[in-house]
Amino acid sequence: TLERTFSIIKPDATRRNLTGAINAKFEAAGLRIVAQKRIHLTKAQAGVFYAVHAERPFYDELCEFMASEPIVCQVLEGEGAIAKNREVMGATNPADAAAGTIRAEFAESVGENSVHGSDAPDTAAIEIAYFFSGLELVG
Ligand code: CMP
Repeated sequence: TLERTFSIIKPDATRRNLTGAINAKFEAAGLRIVAQKRIHLTKAQAGVFYAVHAERPFYDELCEFMASEPIVCQVLEGEGAIAKNREVMGATNPADAAAGTIRAEFAESVGENSVHGSDAPDTAAIEIAYFFSGLELVG
Protein backbone atom coordinates (compact mmCIF):
# COMPACT_ATOMS: atom_id res chain seq x y z
CA THR A 1 0.00 0.00 0.00
CA LEU A 2 1.02 3.59 -0.63
CA GLU A 3 2.44 4.99 2.60
CA ARG A 4 4.05 8.14 3.89
CA THR A 5 6.89 8.23 6.37
CA PHE A 6 8.70 11.02 8.15
CA SER A 7 12.44 11.49 7.60
CA ILE A 8 15.13 13.78 9.02
CA ILE A 9 18.54 14.43 7.51
CA LYS A 10 20.46 15.11 10.73
CA PRO A 11 23.04 17.82 11.57
CA ASP A 12 26.07 15.59 10.98
CA ALA A 13 24.88 15.11 7.39
CA THR A 14 23.75 18.67 6.58
CA ARG A 15 27.09 19.91 7.95
CA ARG A 16 28.97 17.66 5.51
CA ASN A 17 26.79 18.74 2.54
CA LEU A 18 25.24 15.28 2.16
CA THR A 19 21.59 16.30 1.63
CA GLY A 20 21.70 15.61 -2.11
CA ALA A 21 23.58 12.32 -1.78
CA ILE A 22 21.05 11.08 0.79
CA ASN A 23 18.08 12.23 -1.29
CA ALA A 24 19.54 10.37 -4.28
CA LYS A 25 19.43 7.14 -2.22
CA PHE A 26 15.78 7.74 -1.30
CA GLU A 27 14.78 8.47 -4.88
CA ALA A 28 16.73 5.52 -6.29
CA ALA A 29 14.77 3.28 -3.90
CA GLY A 30 11.47 4.60 -5.27
CA LEU A 31 10.71 6.96 -2.39
CA ARG A 32 9.19 10.27 -3.51
CA ILE A 33 10.00 13.42 -1.51
CA VAL A 34 6.51 14.97 -1.19
CA ALA A 35 7.53 17.57 1.41
CA GLN A 36 10.89 18.94 2.49
CA LYS A 37 12.20 21.85 4.55
CA ARG A 38 15.44 22.88 6.18
CA ILE A 39 15.01 24.13 9.74
CA HIS A 40 17.09 24.71 12.86
CA LEU A 41 15.39 23.14 15.89
CA THR A 42 15.67 24.53 19.39
CA LYS A 43 16.72 22.01 22.02
CA ALA A 44 13.22 22.17 23.49
CA GLN A 45 11.64 21.34 20.10
CA ALA A 46 14.04 18.41 19.69
CA GLY A 47 13.06 17.29 23.19
CA VAL A 48 9.38 17.16 22.27
CA PHE A 49 10.12 15.22 19.08
CA TYR A 50 12.20 12.64 20.99
CA ALA A 51 9.98 12.58 24.10
CA VAL A 52 9.67 8.76 23.89
CA HIS A 53 13.40 8.60 24.65
CA ALA A 54 13.22 10.99 27.63
CA GLU A 55 14.32 8.34 30.13
CA ARG A 56 17.26 7.11 28.06
CA PRO A 57 20.78 8.05 29.18
CA PHE A 58 21.55 9.58 25.76
CA TYR A 59 18.44 11.84 25.65
CA ASP A 60 20.14 15.11 26.59
CA GLU A 61 23.04 14.49 24.19
CA LEU A 62 20.56 13.54 21.44
CA CYS A 63 18.53 16.75 21.86
CA GLU A 64 21.69 18.87 22.04
CA PHE A 65 22.95 17.28 18.81
CA MET A 66 19.65 17.67 16.93
CA ALA A 67 19.62 21.38 17.83
CA SER A 68 23.31 21.92 17.03
CA GLU A 69 22.91 22.73 13.33
CA PRO A 70 20.18 22.73 10.66
CA ILE A 71 18.27 19.60 9.74
CA VAL A 72 16.21 18.75 6.67
CA CYS A 73 12.79 17.28 7.50
CA GLN A 74 10.92 15.40 4.86
CA VAL A 75 7.89 13.31 4.05
CA LEU A 76 8.69 10.32 1.84
CA GLU A 77 5.95 8.54 -0.07
CA GLY A 78 5.93 5.15 -1.77
CA GLU A 79 4.81 1.53 -1.65
CA GLY A 80 5.63 0.32 1.87
CA ALA A 81 7.50 3.58 2.46
CA ILE A 82 8.10 3.02 6.18
CA ALA A 83 9.88 -0.32 5.78
CA LYS A 84 11.58 0.76 2.56
CA ASN A 85 13.00 3.87 4.19
CA ARG A 86 14.31 1.81 7.13
CA GLU A 87 15.97 -0.54 4.66
CA VAL A 88 17.65 2.33 2.81
CA MET A 89 18.82 3.92 6.10
CA GLY A 90 20.35 0.71 7.51
CA ALA A 91 20.77 -0.18 11.18
CA THR A 92 20.79 2.61 13.81
CA ASN A 93 24.42 1.87 14.64
CA PRO A 94 26.51 2.36 11.47
CA ALA A 95 28.79 -0.48 12.64
CA ASP A 96 25.82 -2.83 12.11
CA ALA A 97 24.46 -1.22 8.92
CA ALA A 98 24.48 -3.24 5.69
CA ALA A 99 26.78 -2.15 2.87
CA GLY A 100 25.27 0.45 0.56
CA THR A 101 22.87 1.84 3.17
CA ILE A 102 22.91 5.52 4.12
CA ARG A 103 24.23 4.85 7.61
CA ALA A 104 26.94 2.46 6.38
CA GLU A 105 28.16 5.07 3.90
CA PHE A 106 27.68 8.30 5.82
CA ALA A 107 26.94 7.92 9.54
CA GLU A 108 29.64 8.86 12.05
CA SER A 109 28.35 7.05 15.17
CA VAL A 110 25.17 5.64 16.74
CA GLY A 111 24.24 9.14 17.89
CA GLU A 112 25.37 11.06 14.82
CA ASN A 113 23.84 8.65 12.36
CA SER A 114 22.84 10.99 9.51
CA VAL A 115 19.13 10.14 9.24
CA HIS A 116 15.97 9.44 11.22
CA GLY A 117 12.97 7.55 9.88
CA SER A 118 9.61 6.70 11.44
CA ASP A 119 9.33 3.15 12.79
CA ALA A 120 5.58 2.52 12.32
CA PRO A 121 2.43 4.04 10.75
CA ASP A 122 1.20 5.63 14.01
CA THR A 123 4.53 7.30 14.75
CA ALA A 124 4.84 8.40 11.11
CA ALA A 125 1.50 10.22 11.37
CA ILE A 126 2.47 11.90 14.66
CA GLU A 127 5.91 12.93 13.37
CA ILE A 128 4.59 14.29 10.05
CA ALA A 129 1.96 16.35 11.91
CA TYR A 130 4.61 17.79 14.26
CA PHE A 131 6.60 19.29 11.36
CA PHE A 132 4.19 19.80 8.44
CA SER A 133 0.69 21.08 7.76
CA GLY A 134 -1.48 19.22 5.27
CA LEU A 135 -1.00 22.02 2.74
CA GLU A 136 2.75 21.35 2.68
CA LEU A 137 2.35 17.73 1.55
CA VAL A 138 2.41 17.72 -2.22
CA GLY A 139 2.02 14.17 -3.50
P1 CMP B 1 16.68 7.94 15.66
O1 CMP B 1 16.07 6.99 14.69
O2 CMP B 1 16.70 9.36 15.30
O3 CMP B 1 15.89 7.80 17.07
C1 CMP B 1 16.52 7.92 18.31
C2 CMP B 1 17.97 8.21 18.19
O4 CMP B 1 18.70 8.05 19.37
C3 CMP B 1 18.59 7.22 17.23
O5 CMP B 1 18.18 7.50 15.94
C4 CMP B 1 20.06 7.42 17.52
O6 CMP B 1 20.65 8.41 16.72
C5 CMP B 1 20.04 7.88 18.96
N1 CMP B 1 20.68 6.88 19.79
C6 CMP B 1 20.33 5.60 19.94
N2 CMP B 1 21.17 4.99 20.78
C7 CMP B 1 22.09 5.90 21.16
C8 CMP B 1 23.22 5.87 22.00
N3 CMP B 1 23.59 4.76 22.65
N4 CMP B 1 23.92 7.02 22.16
C9 CMP B 1 23.54 8.15 21.51
N5 CMP B 1 22.47 8.23 20.71
C10 CMP B 1 21.76 7.12 20.52
